[in-house]
Amino acid sequence: MFRRPKGTRDFLPEDMKFRRHIEKTIRKVFESYSYEEILTPTFEYFDLIAEKSGEEIRRSVYVFEDKGGRTLALRPEMTAPIARVIANELRSRPKPLRLYYITNVFRYEEPQRGRWREFWHAGVELVGSSRVESDVEVISLGCEVLETLGFKYYVKLGDVSEIRNVLSEIGVTDEREQNLILSMIDRGGDYSSYLESKGFDPRALNELFSTREVNTEKIRQVLNLMEDKFSDRVIVDLKLSRGLDYYTGLVFEFYVEGLDVAVGGGGRYDKLIETFGGPRLPAVGLAFGLDRIELAAKERNLISESEVMKAIVIPLSEKCVKKSFEISSALRELGIITELEVMGRKLNKSLSYASEKGIRFALILGEKELESNTITVKDLKKGEQEEIELGKLKKYFKSITRDTVCTSL
Ligand code: HAM
Repeated sequence: MFRRPKGTRDFLPEDMKFRRHIEKTIRKVFESYSYEEILTPTFEYFDLIAEKSGEEIRRSVYVFEDKGGRTLALRPEMTAPIARVIANELRSRPKPLRLYYITNVFRYEEPQRGRWREFWHAGVELVGSSRVESDVEVISLGCEVLETLGFKYYVKLGDVSEIRNVLSEIGVTDEREQNLILSMIDRGGDYSSYLESKGFDPRALNELFSTREVNTEKIRQVLNLMEDKFSDRVIVDLKLSRGLDYYTGLVFEFYVEGLDVAVGGGGRYDKLIETFGGPRLPAVGLAFGLDRIELAAKERNLISESEVMKAIVIPLSEKCVKKSFEISSALRELGIITELEVMGRKLNKSLSYASEKGIRFALILGEKELESNTITVKDLKKGEQEEIELGKLKKYFKSITRDTVCTSL
C-alpha cells in the first residue's frame, strides 16, 4: 500500500465538482473586473523565492537540486514569479496590468485545519498605479468574491508603511531588521522585548497600535472611496503586518464566518518589480486560499448547484449498439451530458446504476424502437416513460423544467 504524502489530498470526482464550481465563480468575478489569466512554472530558482518572501515562507519552501545542480524551489505563492515575468517580459505593455491566476502552491508547514502543504491560490495583481483607487479596486474585488459565494465576511485593513515609518523614527532603519520585526508582529511575537534588547525604544510603536481611531491618511481615503456595502465590512487593525517582506503600504486579510484563519490576504508592493530588475512599477494584489474557501463553504452548506441534465442510452441488444452511439451524440449536441451503457448490462441493472449515479433520463433502445425510428425515454425523477420519435427528442428535452442546466437548448 502506498500513501499520500503528508499535507496533500486526493480530490475525488464529487470533490472536484465542488472545487470547480467555486473556481468558476471566482474566475467570473476576476474576469468581470477585466483581469487576464497568467501562469508561471511550478518551480523557480530558489533565489527568486528567497529574495522577498519573508522569513516564515522562506523557511517553508520546498527546495531541491536538479540533476544539473541548480537550486530550485516549488513556488510558495505567485506574486514573486509574476513580478519576475513583468520585469522581464511585460514591462512595455500598456498600464495598468490586470493579471489573475488560479493555481497550486506549496509550503512545507505543519498540516492542521485549513493548512496543507499543497494548496491553491486564486489571486489578482494590479500593476502600474500607486493611486489609492487601485487599492480600493483590489479590496472591493476581494469583497465581491466572498459576497458572490454567499459568505458573511470581514476585512482586516492595516498599513505597513506606518509601522515602517515608526521603526525608522526610533532608529530601526535597516530594511531587513524592519522585515524581521514585521514578521514578529505578524506572528504575535514579543516585538517590544526584542526592540529593547537591541537598544531601541518600542514606545512609539506601542502607541501606534493602541490608537483607537483610524489615523492613517491612506486608510481614510480607502474607506471613503469604497462602496458602503464593502467598507462596512472593514475593520482597521494597524497591527496587521502579514508574513511577506515585499509589502510597502496597505495590507489586508479576509475572514469568513466559521473559520478562524484568513481565507485571503494581500497588499501593496511598490518595489518588488524594481528589485527584480524591472522598471519602477507600483502594484497591489491579493490571493485567496481556495481550499479554505472551500472548507468554509462546505461547512456552511453555502453552495447548491442546480441540477445538471444527464442521460444514459441503453441498447437492449447487439443490433441496437450502433444506433445508440448516434443517439448519444445527438443528445450531447443538445447539451445533455450523456453516457452510453458500455457494460453490456441488462435493463434493470442499467437503470439502478443510473439512479445511483443521479442520471435522470434513461433512453432505452430495443429492436422494436429501432424499427420504428423511436426511443423509449424514461424520466427516473418523475417515474414516467414515453416512446418518442427520434426527430422529436429536442422538443421533448426543451419541455423539461428550467431548473435543469442544459447548455445548448
Ligand atoms: P498569503 O497570505 O501568504 O499571501 O496567502 C494567501 C492565502 O493563502 C492565505 O490568506 C490563506 O487563505 C491561504 N494559505 C496560506 N497558507 C496556506 C496553507 N498552508 N494551506 C492552505 N491555505 C493557505 C500571499 O501568498 C500573497 N502572494 C498574496 C498577494 C498577492 N499579495 C499581493 N498579491
